[in-house]
Amino acid sequence: MSLFKLAVLISGSGSNLQAVIDAIENGRIKNAKIALVISTRQEAFGLERAKKNGISNMVIDRDNTPELLKALDSYNIDGVVLAGYLAVLPPEVVNKYIGKIINIHPALLPMFGGKGFYGIRVHEAVLACGVKYSGATVHIVDCGIDTGAPLVRGVVPVLAEDTAEDLQKRVLNIEHDVLVYAVKAMVENRIEEMAANPAVITFDKDKEGVLKFIEELSNQG
Ligand code: GRF
Repeated sequence: MSLFKLAVLISGSGSNLQAVIDAIENGRIKNAKIALVISTRQEAFGLERAKKNGISNMVIDRDNTPELLKALDSYNIDGVVLAGYLAVLPPEVVNKYIGKIINIHPALLPMFGGKGFYGIRVHEAVLACGVKYSGATVHIVDCGIDTGAPLVRGVVPVLAEDTAEDLQKRVLNIEHDVLVYAVKAMVENRIEEMAANPAVITFDKDKEGVLKFIEELSNQG
């Protein structure tokens, strides 16, 4: 059986990339390899992680669509993972790989998504809003910004004393579980099934409270 070839697109530290590398290494994700890591930035630490693990890697400017298409094509990529990729994929790429691109967003979509919601700003907005829970969402990428069908959400509590940085750390921690869960589903061709019934991951004691919160949130979408 041939391995499912993933491209992971990054712009920063690559801790989510590392979670996928580790999951393939320890057998949690089977029959897959990361064939290519693409970064928008030369300084991204994620590139070092790729090199250390012998993964082909390159820097492609966020506006260079022909180069991106060429790279995905020449590595025969089966699925694309946006893992801290600070750019919006152009329609040419989205349409070519429709249903085969997933993104991780550091909030519970459809809340706190869309233009301008990236990095620490997301967590500042969550704190300003005073919600009880935040988390991360992996969703299918369509031509909008953070608008594709959610596949899995990881939920963490928002604590009264949280700074945006505290919340960011707590969310990033659960992102790694959420992303591995979704990548595994992509490799196993279960994306559509998950989109019909998005999963919830939480380590919170109040499971019922979390599920109720997510149900209300999903009804908004
Ligand atoms: C994550 O919070 C991701 O959701 C966001 O950018 C961050 C990237 O972290 N879009 P890392 O590069 O995977 O460590």
